[in-house]
Amino acid sequence: MPSGPALQSQAVLTPLTSAAIFLVLTIDPGGEQAVRDLLPDLAGLRRAVGFRAPEGGLTCVAGIGSDAWDRLFAGPRPAGLHPFREVAGARHRAPATPGDLLLHLRAARMDLCFELAGQLTRRLAGAATVVDAAHGFRYFDDRDLLGFVDGTENPEGRAAAEAVTVGAEDRGFAGGSYVIVQKYLHDLAAWNALPVEQQERAVGRTKLADVELDDAVKPPDSHVALTGVTGPDGRERQIMRFNMPFGSFEGEGESGTYFIGYARTPEVTEEMLRNMFVGRPPGTHDRLLDFSTAVTGSLYFVPAAALLDDPPPAPSPSAGGTAAEAVTRTAAHAATVSVPDGSLAIGSLKRTPAR
Ligand code: HEM
Repeated sequence: MPSGPALQSQAVLTPLTSAAIFLVLTIDPGGEQAVRDLLPDLAGLRRAVGFRAPEGGLTCVAGIGSDAWDRLFAGPRPAGLHPFREVAGARHRAPATPGDLLLHLRAARMDLCFELAGQLTRRLAGAATVVDAAHGFRYFDDRDLLGFVDGTENPEGRAAAEAVTVGAEDRGFAGGSYVIVQKYLHDLAAWNALPVEQQERAVGRTKLADVELDDAVKPPDSHVALTGVTGPDGRERQIMRFNMPFGSFEGEGESGTYFIGYARTPEVTEEMLRNMFVGRPPGTHDRLLDFSTAVTGSLYFVPAAALLDDPPPAPSPSAGGTAAEAVTRTAAHAATVSVPDGSLAIGSLKRTPAR
């Protein structure tokens, strides 16, 4: 990592945990100030809950949606921030659903996630509404409910930081990240009726040993074939996924995979989604989608921790700042980011109080 002023990212790069809560909220009309007030308190609230069981490694990542950004802050916006764009293929659709705030809570123990989620939602009562909440759990050896190990090909170390962290391309927002979440429901009865060999051809990896199928046998409509994307330079473009199974047995029962993908630019995840839903070439949609229905979809910017601690001014003067002040502040933030060689201007990704 480059030296220079530490621009601490939020705790995006946390190893897969055994518990997580995904909270998607919309901000109620007039609730903006309460949300702004919460942002600088997030680190302290996380610390207070996490300290009660330090071995649980509680983390909290907050993301802000495109419309919400303009309601909360004046001044420049993260360059890649836009609402989630629906992807419609011939057979399957990835819908766009409401979401102003994403709170991604992770720990080795669900009690820690639950306690923090309770404190945060109580703070936001009357200001924001939870529109989707999923409790994710570890399923055996990091498998999804389809029975396959999920997360194997995530980048590691420096490659992971480069894949998810905004750098010199958007200096005012360096240290940030983009995240897309989607809730998928599985038709497990139909999936489990497939012979394992066909399941493996749908995923592109073996089920028990989690080994990638040889290119000669990996079908073009397999999940792994369609989510592999390369840039103009021929290099693989990567994202970090922290998918978790979730489910309940009420009524007819509902269970699936909560997809969460962090990236330096949302373009990469969006290209993967087009490949999955439309096909590459069009018509070869992802075979997993014949057993998995996307029911939500939203996109957020995950600011560097410093921006949460000291958010830009509110859009209206009466709410605490002017647009001109915001421009000055973002320029000042950019100036603290030392990016002499085009490398990432991020500090240590080790645990710090800013988690
Ligand atoms: C129903 C939802 C999903 C399930 C059950 C699922 C499951 C899996 C599994 C089992 C693997 C193979 C092991 C691994 O490398 O993690 C995988 C790989 C991958 N998935 Fe998904 N996934 C889902 C949705 C998505 C979505 C929506 C995206 C991106 C938009 C995505 C991107 C990827 C990528 C990039 C890989 C690694 C491909 C490689 O380079 O080998 N997945 N997924």
